[in-house]
Amino acid sequence: MICKSDYLVIGSGIAGLSFARKVAPYGSVNVVAKKLACDTNTNLAQGGIAAVMGTDDTLEEHVQDTLASGQGLCHEDAVRIVVGAGPAMIEELQGLGVPFTAQVDHPDLPELGREGGHSHRRIIHAKDMTGQAVQKVLAENCLANPAISMHELHLALDLLTERDKDGSLRVIGAWVLDRDQGVLKAFLAKTVVLATGGSGKVYLYTTNPDGATGDGLAIGWRAGAKAMDMEFVQFHPTCLYHPKLRNFLISEAVRGEGGVLINREGVPIMKDHPQGDLAFRDVVALAIDREMKRSGAPCVFLDITHKDPAFVKERFPKIYDTCLSVGIDITVEPIPVVPAAHYQCGGLMVDTYGRTNLKGLYSIGEVSATGLHGANRLASNSLLEALVMADRAAQAAREESERLPFPPEKEPPHWPTARLGHAPSEAVLIAHSWDEIRRFMWNYVGLVRSDQRLGMARKRLSLVKAEIDDFFRNFEVDYDLVEVRNIAVVADLIIESAIARKESRGLHYSLSWPDRDDLRFKKDTILRNASPSILPVA
Ligand code: SIN
Repeated sequence: MICKSDYLVIGSGIAGLSFARKVAPYGSVNVVAKKLACDTNTNLAQGGIAAVMGTDDTLEEHVQDTLASGQGLCHEDAVRIVVGAGPAMIEELQGLGVPFTAQVDHPDLPELGREGGHSHRRIIHAKDMTGQAVQKVLAENCLANPAISMHELHLALDLLTERDKDGSLRVIGAWVLDRDQGVLKAFLAKTVVLATGGSGKVYLYTTNPDGATGDGLAIGWRAGAKAMDMEFVQFHPTCLYHPKLRNFLISEAVRGEGGVLINREGVPIMKDHPQGDLAFRDVVALAIDREMKRSGAPCVFLDITHKDPAFVKERFPKIYDTCLSVGIDITVEPIPVVPAAHYQCGGLMVDTYGRTNLKGLYSIGEVSATGLHGANRLASNSLLEALVMADRAAQAAREESERLPFPPEKEPPHWPTARLGHAPSEAVLIAHSWDEIRRFMWNYVGLVRSDQRLGMARKRLSLVKAEIDDFFRNFEVDYDLVEVRNIAVVADLIIESAIARKESRGLHYSLSWPDRDDLRFKKDTILRNASPSILPVA
């Protein structure tokens, strides 16, 4: 089956949906989402959107905070573009009806939250459910637009490419697995946008939803797109530590409103740091890791009990209710927390319009690397980046689509769900590969790395990868197999980038190279795929 449109958007978070609504007046848009359209990383974002809206704040200060967080690796042009567009993006969302929390005394102005590394209060938020509020409005907007067709439960497997007359590779669509019908479809378009979010599931512990398996990164890489700065994985300092509830984030905004990190003796962990609990995330996460190793305790605690309970319940209703559901009343007892993988600062390398190195292929949001984040993302800069880059990519894709002819039709191969003679997937083998990768990534390629640990991870991954490739050739293909194949690519890119960076900087901390080395490493790590390979056409 062939599905044609002017634009193909893969992913339905804030980046993908923003892009879709911006190009919809100029052509038809297909959006494919591997789960339900709202089951995204965006939907879980608690903190908010960093933007200069306060009278005492300036764009220059937001720029400087972002550069300081990125520790010498931010691309200043990207930083200035994204930060500069912040206020207009917020106004646009307000115009669409996103219910941002307003100031009590000035209901026409947004309340500004505070997070680590920001010199001012500048986080626009909808209580502690900002992502959900934005996602809902964007999804409603897109669903009501006749130019946009939403395809839920559709998982992209690989990109479709062809050689242009000038010999260059052009991306013309994607092979997509329709889970309900169990068939493979060819989605063809003039331009394709990867907006699939992050890859937290490559680690054992993560704040990300189950779908964060780096799909866009992997399919872009397999087609020949370059990857940049993949060693910089952000570990959020405060993921809830509770056996019944893994993956639940305790927003940095809790520390922004006075929450204090303490050890089990009640001693504040960050007391000796000049920025205290609001130091940059890499610093706080490492301090927690050190404290856990020193004390042997499985977690530390975040204490907000000194604040008025009514304020805590009003400001953090989601966190309050969720913690209460597992028996923790955060107004009277400290919250057990641990660091967990949270955000992929690197990704597919793009310019300031979201263009990858492949003709017709764009990448926006967490799957991409614009250079905004450098070696450590500043809190709440990512939803902002997704909005701004969706807007800019939409401009560029519109222009490119006008120039490009419609791609020739290609029938999907009779593959992979109906591959006769292929064995049904062996769930136990796939689950084992998945578990193995996530464990060694956590233990060897986590917060603290070393040459030895990275070497061990590389060896193990090469074995598991070979097995997964074998499963992919010989098993019937299902969602789990596709995702683990993608996770293996993400792990590979993180390991190889981390091995290449022989220093410690930002989120990459190596025991073998504990110092920052500006002379040799004040540069991005850029990886090229020497042998792109995508699904063959029938
Ligand atoms: C948080 O609420 O702490 C997450 C915000 C972010 O990661 O930017």
